[in-house]
Amino acid sequence: MSDPIPVLRDRLLSTSGGLQWHATAWRRRAAWAGFVRQVAGWLDAWRPRRDHLVVVGGSAGYTLPTAWLSRFRRITLLEPDPVARCLWRWRRPRAEMGRLDALVAGGLRTLRVHHPDAAVLFANVLGQVPCPGQRRWTETLAADLDGLPWASYHDVFSCVERAATRTPMALPQAGDVETLVAHFWPGLREIELFDHDSLGLGGPGPHAYAPWSLRPGQEHLIEWCVRGDRESSVACPGRSARPAC
Ligand SMILES: C[S@@+](CC[C@H](N)C(=O)[O-])C[C@H]1O[C@@H](n2cnc3c(N)ncnc32)[C@H](O)[C@@H]1O
Repeated sequence: MSDPIPVLRDRLLSTSGGLQWHATAWRRRAAWAGFVRQVAGWLDAWRPRRDHLVVVGGSAGYTLPTAWLSRFRRITLLEPDPVARCLWRWRRPRAEMGRLDALVAGGLRTLRVHHPDAAVLFANVLGQVPCPGQRRWTETLAADLDGLPWASYHDVFSCVERAATRTPMALPQAGDVETLVAHFWPGLREIELFDHDSLGLGGPGPHAYAPWSLRPGQEHLIEWCVRGDRESSVACPGRSARPAC
């Protein structure tokens, strides 16, 4: 007998999404414009050779460009927030609303079995949802999504201090906290970071970083990585701290 499919339960209120997320996205749309352009640049350079995209944690697509989504013939959205799904239907390209919870035990393996033709985008969700079991997302993704092209942008840490530069950074491997702090918060002698336990989530290979002022007094450092598709690349528009790509 095959394993039961983990089902995505509706969630209107949550720490990583829900009604508060929609209110913030609406209020902060002008302030987020630079970050949204940065994400668009990363996505634009990711060219998985698939015409089916699974978006995990897409909400209403506030940080996802319609033009880029339109490259895919088929889109499956995995999103527990019913308001987000409704808003997606209204403002984003047509998508099937999937009912699989990919982020619980066995979820990614089920995703691979049910969507072997897809590329998977984790849209700022992996730094918010703890990895099930004893492993970190890095190991779970490498083991359970093996063979599927995937990409993720996610929080690696957050803090109160606004970054001194918006210039993104691209590195041939995952960055370490000291290097990232020295680049984005130069000169700060002390900084209190909230760790999202997702640094270097893509394993070996290039990673890119950009700050995101989510709300006043709430700065997030976002990591971008791509795996599992030789044709893909990590985009580093803007200056990189080291010539990584
Ligand atoms: C920080 S928001 C990301 C928003 C989105 N990427 C955008 O452009 O607006 C995280 C999203 O992940 C969703 N989420 C939380 N748990 C999830 C799960 N197990 N599977 C899929 N999405 C999930 C939340 O409902 C929320 O919409």
